Formats: sequence, C-alpha cells, structure tokens
Amino acid sequence: NAKPIQVKLVLLGEAAVGKSSLVLRFVNNEFQENKEPTIGAAFLTQRCKLEDKIIKFEIWDTAGQERFHSLAPMYYRNAQAAIVAYDVTKAASLEKAMNWVEELKRQANRDMVIALVGNKLDLVSASHGGDEAVRKVPVAQARAYADEHGLLFFEASAKTGDNVLEVFTDIAGKIPLD
Ligand code: GTP
Ligand code: MG
Repeated sequence: NAKPIQVKLVLLGEAAVGKSSLVLRFVNNEFQENKEPTIGAAFLTQRCKLEDKIIKFEIWDTAGQERFHSLAPMYYRNAQAAIVAYDVTKAASLEKAMNWVEELKRQANRDMVIALVGNKLDLVSASHGGDEAVRKVPVAQARAYADEHGLLFFEASAKTGDNVLEVFTDIAGKIPLD
C-alpha cells in the first residue's frame, strides 16, 4: 500500500482571510507576515500520513479578490474536498464563506467534503497574546452553520500553526479512500 491516494482540494474564501497562509503552513510549515494576494490561483502539493495510508493533496489555492470569482468553478469542479475560509476578526468574511458553501452545494461534487475554517485565531486567543474583543465571529454561530450544512468546522491560525494540520487530516479521514 505504498501508492499515495490523491485528494484534489480547493481553497475558497474572501480576499486576505489567509487561504494562501494556511497552505504555506501546511506545505512548508512557514508563515509570512505580509503575504501578497494570489492572482488567479496557485497549485501546490503535500503528502501526509493517515493511519497506514499516504495521502497526496493536490491543492488549488484560489484568489479571493472579486474579479477572480468567475474562475472558481474551474478549480472546484473536479475537487473532492474544499476548505472555505473566513477571518474570525471579520464578520463579512463569514457571509462570503456562506455564499461559497451555497455555490459548492449547487455546483460542485455532491459528495464533496467541505471544511469551514475560521482563520487568524491567534488575534483573539489569550494564549497567543490576542484579545477576545477583536473577535467578530462568535464560534457558536459558525459552528451552528457548519453543523446545519454538514461541514467540518475548525478555528485555526496559519500564523501559529494552531489546528492547521488537523484541518487537512480530518478532511482526508472523511474522503472515501479505496
Ligand atoms: P487572497 O490570495 O487575496 O485571496 O488572500 P488570502 O486569503 O490568500 O490571504 P493571505 O494568506 O495572503 O493572507 C492575508 C494577510 O493575512 C497576510 O498579511 C498574512 O500574513 C495575514 N494572515 C494570514 N493568516 C494569518 C493568521 O493566522 N494570523 C494572522 N495574525 N495573520 C494572518
Ligand atoms: Mg492567497
């Protein structure tokens, strides 16, 4: 069973919520304080182990700027999994994430595994010097939406790495692998 199992995954979400930063953390275990906006989309791969299996993620990191919205179907059409990201310090970014989830439910694979991820947790968590008052999306609100729509749900930080690996491994665990 040395042959890796390929999982095509797309990242969607409003500009600057940290999609590319989540991928950079997962793929290179790095973080950049001033990451440039993605133009069009970027493609990256990463392997990870799940029990006795090797998963090879093929990741399309899309651009969140509105002018690129129409390109998104090219990237989610054949995807088995999606990460829909928002920024826990920006309420409007959750609304945008909800719009993406609805678009995926209408247009993407019926059995697509979707994870809703609230990023920038470091800015609101006391353990990282953050301030809970900066939070604009209550965790209960996002979790309720995720439960209602059958999504995996996480809060994470690309900056500290909190929960980032868990997002990808939990997705891998939900994909029918054979
Ligand atoms: P587009 O490519 O334009 O759609 O943006 P994006 O969603 O890929 O965001 P990107 O990863 O470029 O991050 C935007 C900014 O937020 C950058 O300056 C990052 O350094 C910062 N950032 C990303 N993730 C985090 C995080 O977890 N915590 C903090 N504090 N900042 C973050
Ligand atoms: Mg980006």
